[in-house]
Amino acid sequence: MKSLAIVGLQFGDEGKGKLTDTFAANFDLVIRYQGGNNAGHTVYAHGKKYVLHLLPSGIIHAHTINVMGNGMVIDLDALEKELEPFHIHQLRISDRAHIITPLHRYLDAQAEGNASQKIGTTLKGIGPAYQLKAGRIGLRMSSLMNVDRFKFELKQLYDFYGFNEDVEAYVQRLTPFIQRLRPAIVDVGSLLEAAKEKGQSMLFEGAQGMMLDLDHGTYPFVTSSHPSPTSAAIDLGIPQGWISRTLGVVKAYTTRVGEGPFPTEYDNEVSQSIRERAHEYGATTGRPRRIGHLDLVMLKQALRVAGVTELAVTLFDILSGVEPLKICTHYRFQEKEIMTVPAHADDLKQVTPVYQTFSSWQEDLSTIRTYEALPKAAKAYLRFIETTLKRPIRFISVGPQREQLIEVSHD
Ligand code: GDP
Ligand code: IMO
Ligand code: MG
Repeated sequence: MKSLAIVGLQFGDEGKGKLTDTFAANFDLVIRYQGGNNAGHTVYAHGKKYVLHLLPSGIIHAHTINVMGNGMVIDLDALEKELEPFHIHQLRISDRAHIITPLHRYLDAQAEGNASQKIGTTLKGIGPAYQLKAGRIGLRMSSLMNVDRFKFELKQLYDFYGFNEDVEAYVQRLTPFIQRLRPAIVDVGSLLEAAKEKGQSMLFEGAQGMMLDLDHGTYPFVTSSHPSPTSAAIDLGIPQGWISRTLGVVKAYTTRVGEGPFPTEYDNEVSQSIRERAHEYGATTGRPRRIGHLDLVMLKQALRVAGVTELAVTLFDILSGVEPLKICTHYRFQEKEIMTVPAHADDLKQVTPVYQTFSSWQEDLSTIRTYEALPKAAKAYLRFIETTLKRPIRFISVGPQREQLIEVSHD
């Protein structure tokens, strides 16, 4: 079976949506396995801009079936709005995926309002949804098969939290949408098994990025799911081993939205110019993204955890004219040079990045379509990443449009 997973290796927003949409042309199924509408995946197609939050980024191609796994957390209001321009017959949603309600959004806002808990979430109710799931009191999509049952379970949950919103009005408003959604709610593991038997190809799309992983990211400044495709087995109900290739997406520099340690961050006229040229503002919340140099220490860890077999470097066009151009190769921590990410956020805040400086280039890369045509200095920057990370760079993205992509041949 042809399969490929796409995973962000930094703090999200690496350009996963653009790549997933571009590659979806050659896949039958596009499958999101975790996260919710905290994600914002930007796709340009047919002269239009789409920002996808819950829907897999294959939905723009009419031939694809787009699957949302049990590892996802789904806000029904958000899904209804997002589905408007698309066809519901292209969508399949796991009957085991969890539902985000106004209560979840309220709990998220409560935690963010408390100085000791604030981490700068997207306020979409993501953390509470995974908390309630692990606490075994969450609501799942299967509850929607019977509106009375859904109402009863929702009332129980609201009562448990003393949350006084009107359940009747909420369910009544959503009922027409729930009825439309029902045929799409399926056992995703069985669906994928049948698709595999038919020889259909599968593109797996991770949301967020490896440094936001609940276990392996910069805890507690992380999201509450596992962006790694190694968790796709649990998040979809399929055996390990179905994913033969994992493409790690690396933005040519680093960005982060929300709070938390960020060793290579800098804020000056260079980072501000990057922010404006690349429009580095959150696709979900509009917050300005923090900017930093590329960090190979974090990338090295991310590659291992995510099982990355090859790389795509994105937003490479943005580095033209960036000076000084630096890559972090190590951290200095407690008088030692280290190549691993300290587990405690306070320790990670204390590290000093050790940099290698590279020659910059001025040429516009956005119309380049072959590796050979790249400036010499640009190739040196890429070669250093490839040799240090020991993974081939297969794709270089030089703009937001589908065609702004260089495929690198490694023959
Ligand atoms: P995602 O969350 O990983 O899908 O990434 P986002 O969509 O949140 O952020 C990536 C941003 O960069 C979006 O505005 C994309 O349109 C844009 N983008 C993606 N690839 C490139 C690229 O190679 N060059 C430039 N200049 N922009 C890109
Ligand atoms: P995509 O898929 C960037 C960040 C939030 C916050 C932390 C926890 O577009 O790459 P949450 O709402 O998940 O509880 O917030 O995670 N975050 C993202 N940052 N891109 C994303 O998704 C993100 N999803 C969550 O800013 O710091
Ligand atoms: Mg994004």
